[in-house]
Amino acid sequence: MLYTVPVRQTICWLYACLREYLPSALPTHRTTTSIEQEEFFAMEVIIKENPEAMGKLAAELIAEVVRRKPKCVLGLATGSTPLPTYKELIRLHKNEGLDFSRVTTFNLDEYVGLVHEHDQSYHYFMWENLFKQINVNPKSVHVPDGMAKDIPAFCRWYEEQIVKAGGVDMQLLGIGSNGHIAFNEPGSSLGSRTRVKTLDDGTRQDNARFFKSMNEVPKYAITMGIGTIMDARQLILLANGAGKAEAIKQTCEGPITAMVPATVVQLHPKATIIVDKPAATKLTRDYPAEPRVLVLN
Ligand code: F6R
Repeated sequence: MLYTVPVRQTICWLYACLREYLPSALPTHRTTTSIEQEEFFAMEVIIKENPEAMGKLAAELIAEVVRRKPKCVLGLATGSTPLPTYKELIRLHKNEGLDFSRVTTFNLDEYVGLVHEHDQSYHYFMWENLFKQINVNPKSVHVPDGMAKDIPAFCRWYEEQIVKAGGVDMQLLGIGSNGHIAFNEPGSSLGSRTRVKTLDDGTRQDNARFFKSMNEVPKYAITMGIGTIMDARQLILLANGAGKAEAIKQTCEGPITAMVPATVVQLHPKATIIVDKPAATKLTRDYPAEPRVLVLN
């Protein structure tokens, strides 16, 4: 015990000398992020012909993760955009044996105040459109609980579960016409974690198409934060239709700003944005139709 401080000082001194005079003798520490940056370097944008082709590519990228790491963690989204992706994942499961039995999932968001059985709750959506039709273990799926009594405690628990599961390997995202990702509306903190957000009027109007009247559209949602989303090892952001063209222009070619939350994806080391032609109409640069595999040595 008595020698702890001098011993530590000596080790530090030796380490400093080696770093100065013989750096090759020291192990090189490469973080996951630096390896991923070497593989992909940055965000890539891909323009596909239509939502079905987008869904096929997104599902293939997700399937690649599941095959490479059967015990992976997937982050999932709801809304109309990911439906062709889920359809293709179901096909890959049924026809090609894609195995979800060891996969864990975390959904991005859920409306506050809707019971799980409500046909517009994101719980219901996920079970109807994906979980029921693949072999995922029901105990391994997580959708935020919009009926939680203590929502802040629930949000902390949700973040802890993501960490406990080992972090999200692949996060699927849609985008709002106002540039939101999950329900992080314009102005959300770029470092935010899972919490309650008030939905913008525009978002409520966009989503009113799923409800009988505007009055029924929930005003609040539990959403993963932007910081939570950015922690995922890989992102796929999907957008289709002319209504998303301005948000996609800002996301791909605009300055990074909390007023268009999706622009933060530009900072992610491994992000793929897949859009259809109508959503790409305001882009000014040339983008490919297939992902490039960029290996930097
Ligand atoms: C839903 C979500 C939202 C939607 C977005 C686009 O889980 O995270 O951000 O992705 O509102 O919705 P759609 O796909 O219906 O246009």
